[in-house]
Amino acid sequence: MKKWMMFGLIALATGQAYAAGNTIKVGVLAEMSGTFADFGMQITNGAKAYMRQHGDTVAGKKIELVVRDTTGPAPDVAKRLAQELVVKDNVDFIVGFGLTPNAFAVAPIATEAKKPTIIMNAATSVITVKSPYIARVSFTLAQVTEPMAQWAYKSGLRKIYTVVADYGPGHDAEQTFKKAFSRLGGEVIGELRVPLKNPEFGPFVQRVKDSKPQAIFVFVPAGELAVGFMKAYNERGLAQAGIKLLSTGDVTDDGVIEALGDNALGVISTHQYSAAHPSPENKAFLAAYSQINPKQRPNFMAVGGYDGMAAVYEVVRQLKGNIDGDKAMQVLKGMKLNSPRGPIQIDAETRDIVQNVYVREVRKVDGKLYNVEFETFTAVRDPGK
Ligand code: DHB
Repeated sequence: MKKWMMFGLIALATGQAYAAGNTIKVGVLAEMSGTFADFGMQITNGAKAYMRQHGDTVAGKKIELVVRDTTGPAPDVAKRLAQELVVKDNVDFIVGFGLTPNAFAVAPIATEAKKPTIIMNAATSVITVKSPYIARVSFTLAQVTEPMAQWAYKSGLRKIYTVVADYGPGHDAEQTFKKAFSRLGGEVIGELRVPLKNPEFGPFVQRVKDSKPQAIFVFVPAGELAVGFMKAYNERGLAQAGIKLLSTGDVTDDGVIEALGDNALGVISTHQYSAAHPSPENKAFLAAYSQINPKQRPNFMAVGGYDGMAAVYEVVRQLKGNIDGDKAMQVLKGMKLNSPRGPIQIDAETRDIVQNVYVREVRKVDGKLYNVEFETFTAVRDPGK
């Protein structure tokens, strides 16, 4: 062997020993500031709740979160931060992603660096197609929307107007609803797309009201947009006009449901997690989360953070602390977890999540607003997968 090759191999081996070390680094890319700051807060607090509950050592290695702020829907920032996590911080995993555009931006880096990447919220169907190193523990809009269309038809509704945020997950929700509802014999009588940034909901909602549908089906990202939409729905008197409100759970999200106020009572939504889900796993999760942040109710993104860490721990355990991208993906494929939302599985072929989707109604429980689950669609897949 030539001398320079030897040096190269030694350098490589030293590098690997250094990377292996005694710490497993989990790079968290999330929206920690700006309009979507709640996303990052919920995701990271969910991850921390898992670590609080299960300790921070697995297979003899200390698990360390390295959190980086994407600042909002900012693909360029997300991409740069992912590169730094890989090259400078030498992370073993990349996790997080509240928003779809950030997940899209990081997919090529996950592939190039062979980093196991776990999506804890972003919910556009094609995200998992963008890299073989991506697995999702959250949900897809298509997955929760199809049951909504089925429930709506079963409930006798026939003419519905759809309103969605104008980007990936909104387009998926709009198309899935139309396909499923019209296949059954219902009719989507109008479709509106509202901007992701600073939408003015009043005029949009008025247009819906003027065309007199029986119901409106809505997806906007959780948080401020959901509050803005609800406000316009109330101010324009759609409920009084007999127009029922159906949505994905993002709109009646646990993180903001109290801010929606009593006007939200009776809203029907479909989603994978409610803080009111009755199970021992959820009770334990709520207790762990309140130790991290006693002031805020955890939402579906917090559960994504929690389950994403459960997946990381399982990979570290099975690989005995020696993380290799391809081996990690083998462990993630087909993984089953007992989530606070119910049983979940990462599909072995698509790396996307299979889970129960619940139909819920906003009701008062002990004086507080909750999404109370009353019907379950079991083991639901993304309809396109
Ligand atoms: C996204 C999806 C959501 O369900 C949500 O509430 C917010 C953002 C997304 O994929 O960007």
